[in-house]
Amino acid sequence: MKVICTERSQVLGARLAKELQVPLADTTYSRFPDGEHYLCTSGLDDETVVVGSVVDNDSLVQLMLLNDACENSVIRLVLPYMAYARQDKQFKRGEPLSARVVAKALSCGVSDIFTVDIHDPGVLKHFAVPAQNLSLANEIGAYIKTLKLRHPLILAPDDGALSFAGQVASAGAWDFDHLEKTRLSGVEVHMAPKKVCAESRPVVIVDDIISTGGTIATAAGMLYRQGATDVYAACVHGVLANGAYARLMATGIRDVICSDTIERACSRISAAERIARAIRKC
Ligand code: R5P
Repeated sequence: MKVICTERSQVLGARLAKELQVPLADTTYSRFPDGEHYLCTSGLDDETVVVGSVVDNDSLVQLMLLNDACENSVIRLVLPYMAYARQDKQFKRGEPLSARVVAKALSCGVSDIFTVDIHDPGVLKHFAVPAQNLSLANEIGAYIKTLKLRHPLILAPDDGALSFAGQVASAGAWDFDHLEKTRLSGVEVHMAPKKVCAESRPVVIVDDIISTGGTIATAAGMLYRQGATDVYAACVHGVLANGAYARLMATGIRDVICSDTIERACSRISAAERIARAIRKC
């Protein structure tokens, strides 16, 4: 077995190879003068773990090319972050079901797929091969433990993320709750006023994705007004679009913590061990 990764998942790819105690296959990446992607792999094995987060259109194309380059090997595809997964329904007539499009494209030639805290596990049914979703809730809980916060409240921004928050909170038997979020547009959210037990204590808002940071910024404002001492934000996928990290820090968030499913300077939690465990199991 070897691990091979796209350019945007080099750190996680290397960590996963180390966890699995297998070599990393060598790949060179470049572009044609017109911008088209090119890559070339060498030294593949009979079984290849392909690691690639789809963080943008380029990384999607690169991952499809990498799958094709590994065609003579049994491919276990690790898709730590899957862009387009939030368009998991045709919300309006005439829209594509984008999650299905990406799932179908990435199923081609692979034998099984591992996702990590995919936005909606319902998306898994669109893959044409067996797919399983892994959660980093325990890893996030373990990281929060290292912060040594006094009686933190673990808070989900909406009821959809409540079970995730509960799982994170189980690391320290902490209290957990949720807010009431309604999304108005891609960048705007409305948070219904809701009193939570935030007074005189730290709060950690946990979510699967921080994209524009709008959800976290709105929630943090409400929590500070309710007397929270410090507000932290922790997520699996730090999309951090349009300067979200700086904006969140400027609004008084104490720290923004994410995993290496998307490789960022604030990726303090690794998905490697969790993924390695799942690969070893099947
Ligand atoms: C949506 O339901 C997700 O779970 C996140 O809450 C959302 O993607 C966060 O987006 P933003 O950071 O743009 O508010």
